[in-house]
Amino acid sequence: MKIVIINGSPNKNGYTNHVVDEVFKDFNHEIIKYFAYDLDVNTCIGCNYCFSHCNECIFDNKDQFRSLMNDVIECDLLVLASPLHFSSFSAKLLSVISRMQVYFPMKYEYKQTLPFKDKQALTIAVGGNDYPTMFDAIKAVDRIIYMHTNVNDIKRLLLKGSDKYNKDEFVRKYQLDIENIRKDIK
Ligand SMILES: Cc1cc2nc3c(=O)[nH]c(=O)nc-3n(C[C@H](O)[C@H](O)[C@H](O)COP(=O)(O)O)c2cc1C
Repeated sequence: MKIVIINGSPNKNGYTNHVVDEVFKDFNHEIIKYFAYDLDVNTCIGCNYCFSHCNECIFDNKDQFRSLMNDVIECDLLVLASPLHFSSFSAKLLSVISRMQVYFPMKYEYKQTLPFKDKQALTIAVGGNDYPTMFDAIKAVDRIIYMHTNVNDIKRLLLKGSDKYNKDEFVRKYQLDIENIRKDIK
């Protein structure tokens, strides 16, 4: 199984990465982890070039989006991990994700098959606070992304309240949820 993780946290040693490492600890699979804030990927500027040029983007050969997508295309499990920022994915992760717009006209205007292998997805989101609607946007946004990437099975690990704990306490608090996710995706 090939696993691609895109971690949207600006903090490489933050809560999100701590949870990610716990979920994939000792996994006997190929794992490729990207940090969104390290990626040289332009934001979609809504120029609609992809509507007149199927599966082409004005930023092709100018940034790292396509090489990232080459891994996403052939992976069996796509993981989007992010701290909750304004009740959504982090800005940089949203920016990277925005470029997947290129697949929208490919599928709906040009009626072409998307290049993605059928896959599972896992969303990991970590929020500092605790309020009832805090993950609503995450679920709305990830559904769209996964629709664009041939995901047929969505799992989520949505963890609240990180601001009250240190990283180790936080992971211990959610150990059971983490174990259940590990069993689900193995
Ligand atoms: C710009 C910004 C916006 C945030 N917005 C929210 C929010 O809307 N809801 C929430 O519960 N926590 C919010 N937080 C808190 C983070 O989700 C929380 O501290 C998280 O554990 C940080 O993860 P990290 O260590 O991987 O960066 C925000 C933090 C930042 C920096």
